[in-house]
Amino acid sequence: MALPPAFLDELRARTPMAALVGRKVKLARSGKSWKGCCPFHGEKSPSFYVYDDGYHCFGCGAHGDAIGFVMNTEGAGFIEAVERLAGEAGLDVPKPSPAAAEAERARLDLTGVLDLVAAAYTRRLHEPQGREALAYLRGRGLTDETIHRFGLGWSGDGRGSLTAELAHQDIPPACMAEAGLLQSRDDGTNRELFYNRVMFPIRDRRGRTISMGGRALGDAKPKYINGPETAVYSKSRNLYALDLAREGARKSEHGVIVAEGYMDVIALHQAGFGGAVAPLGTALTAAQLEELWRLSDAPTLCFDGDAAGARAAARAAEVALPLIAPDRTLCLVTLPDGEDPDTLVRRGGPAAFTAVLATKRPLAQALFEILREGFAADTPENRSALRARLDAAAARIGDKGLASEYRSALRDRFFESTRRRPGMRAGSKPAAPPPARVAPGEDQAIAERHRAMLAILINHPGLIGDVAEALSGLPLLPEYNGVRDALIRYYESEAALDFDGLMNHLALSGHAAQAHRVLATRPMPLPACAGPTAMPAEAEAGWWHFFGLLNRSRLEEEVAAAAAAFQRSPSPAAQTRLVALCAAREALAQDAMVDDAEA
Ligand code: UTP
Ligand code: MN
Repeated sequence: MALPPAFLDELRARTPMAALVGRKVKLARSGKSWKGCCPFHGEKSPSFYVYDDGYHCFGCGAHGDAIGFVMNTEGAGFIEAVERLAGEAGLDVPKPSPAAAEAERARLDLTGVLDLVAAAYTRRLHEPQGREALAYLRGRGLTDETIHRFGLGWSGDGRGSLTAELAHQDIPPACMAEAGLLQSRDDGTNRELFYNRVMFPIRDRRGRTISMGGRALGDAKPKYINGPETAVYSKSRNLYALDLAREGARKSEHGVIVAEGYMDVIALHQAGFGGAVAPLGTALTAAQLEELWRLSDAPTLCFDGDAAGARAAARAAEVALPLIAPDRTLCLVTLPDGEDPDTLVRRGGPAAFTAVLATKRPLAQALFEILREGFAADTPENRSALRARLDAAAARIGDKGLASEYRSALRDRFFESTRRRPGMRAGSKPAAPPPARVAPGEDQAIAERHRAMLAILINHPGLIGDVAEALSGLPLLPEYNGVRDALIRYYESEAALDFDGLMNHLALSGHAAQAHRVLATRPMPLPACAGPTAMPAEAEAGWWHFFGLLNRSRLEEEVAAAAAAFQRSPSPAAQTRLVALCAAREALAQDAMVDDAEA
């Protein structure tokens, strides 16, 4: 008799593929998967890949899951392989019984019913009765493709119509009740839970419909109604859009992102953040973290900028601590106050959310900030209490090596924060350091960087204001000081900044010859970002890149200050600045831009 698929899913989820295969095959990390030489055919260079949920050989086509691997490498039968793996995973193999088989059939029936219901809701959305709902979704910026991808629908506008429709398909109310579509009343009768609502099907990791959420069209309360827990739906074990994110996270450079609401997830996917998921109206649970870690070593959790968001972040850190390991951790990001991912991408496009992601903090840093919150460090007693609190948090980490790293990282931050002098606020700048002494061969490279930075500003005078502070503190080669000062004076004196006006100003202040040398194609052509045809964003990112090449730590300070400014008020200008700075930091990390410029 067949084993319940739910049990087999659980068994696969609990079996670490790499460890299982690693007993037979020497494996090396390859991105998020592992690879090695195929045990099923002779080969010298590895084409055998191991993923979280299975293996695949690109040489001979061998393919399967954990159970298949045991069957094929040990010649075990199906049941024997299952029993062996279950023993290692600490699971009991369910006794096949008629009752269990019946329960499993019912379970399959329930997702089948819910798939039918989702199809009915989708059809209704595109009928005349769904006109207002469709307009609502489009009005919130969703494309028809997105509406289709997420299977959004319309419930119908009164109670009773779904029951009638399903009766025609031989689905009785009792079955609808089990699927969580009916609400039972005190008098023992049932009535439909969803009417007059835009419908969001909730699917499991494999894309089977397991529940529904429904949103009112207007301001009716409650805003969302959600299906109850059922035999197929557990709010604490599932994540909204997990089925789509499994694929999307791999394709998106931003990885797995946990937002709060249905609409946030949908807006993020549409904006290209295909790894977005959300919990289902409750705080993130350990089971949900496990799901996230199957997709990513370090998913990013988003929290609102208000007090409730801070509490939610603290709770998530609390749940995560015992479970984290070197390859299972988190990043946290705080949204600008009053915004959610949906409103951010609606108004500012994908760049607005990328800018927010640039402010994400690794768990260790976020944890320090959470634990320090509300603690005065003004007396030895208070400092010692805070330190005990930090140590206690580190001690909750299950992975002992990581726990000790956290302990020292938290203590380092603690000492750093208590040493900080009162007058020195975060974001205030230390005095500019003296020019670094450089090896003779580097002189020319530095001169060219200085020249490129000035050329960018002459060709894009609109940027001078954004960089003025950094520019005035920059230790430039003496020959460029005159042009630099003239640029800053021009910015301070003119309301409208343009190339001709600037060249005129440079000529009148006696810097024409120097300005022409800055813009010359010798000794080498200027990099593309310094040319007159560069896009403003490219020019700005280029400027900060050269700035970062000259002084890496000052660039980090600028990034941090821009991130803080953006958090305080997410204006388009603050966003552009942050995006440019992050692009510069990124380019610096890869050092791609200089190579391009010099190629
Ligand atoms: P939000 O109130 O942040 O809603 O709730 P939202 O996702 O931004 O919705 P829009 O943009 O107004 O349409 C976040 C999540 O909390 C749950 C839902 O899962 C929602 O997506 N929620 C919220 C409810 O279950 N019921 C409610 O009445 C409100
Ligand atoms: Mn919203």
